Amino acid sequence: MDLFEYQARDLFEKHGVPVLAAMIATTPDEAEAAAREIGGKVVVKAQVKVGGRGKAGGVKLAENPADAREKASAILGMDIKGHVVATVMIAAAVPIESEYYLAILLDRSNRTFLVMASVSGGMDIEEVAHTAPEKLAKIAVSAVDGISAAKAKEIVAAAKFPPDVADQVADVLLKLWEVFQSEDATLVEVNPLVKTKDGKVIALDGKITLDDNAQFRQPDHAALVDLAATNALEAAAAEKDLNYVKLDGQVGVIGNGAGLVMSTLDVVAYAGKKHGGVLPANFLDIGGGASVQIMADGLSIILGDADVKSVFVNVFGGITSCDAVATGIVQALELLGPKATKPIVVRLDGNNVVEGRAILAKAAHPLIEQADTMDGAANRAAELAAN
Ligand SMILES: Nc1ncnc2c1ncn2[C@@H]1O[C@H](COP(=O)(O)OP(=O)(O)O)[C@@H](O)[C@H]1O
Ligand SMILES: [Mg+2]
Repeated sequence: MDLFEYQARDLFEKHGVPVLAAMIATTPDEAEAAAREIGGKVVVKAQVKVGGRGKAGGVKLAENPADAREKASAILGMDIKGHVVATVMIAAAVPIESEYYLAILLDRSNRTFLVMASVSGGMDIEEVAHTAPEKLAKIAVSAVDGISAAKAKEIVAAAKFPPDVADQVADVLLKLWEVFQSEDATLVEVNPLVKTKDGKVIALDGKITLDDNAQFRQPDHAALVDLAATNALEAAAAEKDLNYVKLDGQVGVIGNGAGLVMSTLDVVAYAGKKHGGVLPANFLDIGGGASVQIMADGLSIILGDADVKSVFVNVFGGITSCDAVATGIVQALELLGPKATKPIVVRLDGNNVVEGRAILAKAAHPLIEQADTMDGAANRAAELAAN
């Protein structure tokens, strides 16, 4: 999960990384009040999860609260690379003498962490990395040793930070390492890290990517999820621990095993071409142990999608045999009652397929149709969706 700048700033503050006073606002009124509270000159900064906000006009200096209000009303609603600005951060403005760059990230290919540091930070770090790579120091950090005080000094020297800021930068690096490690991040980036006119080193902009696989031990991170940007169906599915991704089409898909579901999406898209360009409406993998409850949860998410016109249940019986899946489908439909309204094409194969098909045939549910093959089922589901 990528964080907004203001969320990164808060985590920086929590771990002692020097940051500026800041508040967020979603209206020009709030922006004005925030600027008054902070006092003096401020910057108004678009909170979107994309870089290059400065160049896009999403970071503006404001002289006073009234000016902050004006700048906020210009930035709120602005489209930056496809991201519409709903929130701005009002931060104290500082006189900048130098802009540096610091980042800690996971280096997958070398199986280490990596620190990148440069005294040529600011808005053009990508350009620096490209045209003058010698100005961007890259130092591997072992996961076992992490960043010690000595290692931080070594990095600061390698990146040739000037002597007057070396100690402060080393200290910031140690604290960023604490953020990286204790928050389970895969990226912590500060660009720019600045030296102010009065010689202080401050993190002016922050980017953090958290490792979603560490969610279980980071209960506080749930509060950082951007609910406004989360699809409602995906949120409901996540709550039920379903492996669900919303797509743009009309055929709801349920399958067991990610590989089977992926190929189901392909065959539905292929079959859909003959039916006016019908496409799969979602990815949903109900996994190996498809219980009645999981089937009911999956079906109810898919039937709750207004775009869905038909459903394709594609199950290959393995550890969970087809008769158990068939019973699951029948009971799930009983559980859903009148909430089940769309035609469901079921293709069963594999372990106990004969028993499974017999159970569905016997139930004779008006919404269920059986198909013998995956292609046949995809074609029928697409046809039902088209009509
Ligand atoms: N609080 C601040 N005070 C003074 N200048 C700032 C402040 N915040 C940002 N800036 C300036 O704006 C530039 C862009 O801001 P930044 O937060 O890095 O956004 P982005 O990286 O998305 O362009 C910075 O490089 C810095 O020069
Ligand atoms: Mg920046």
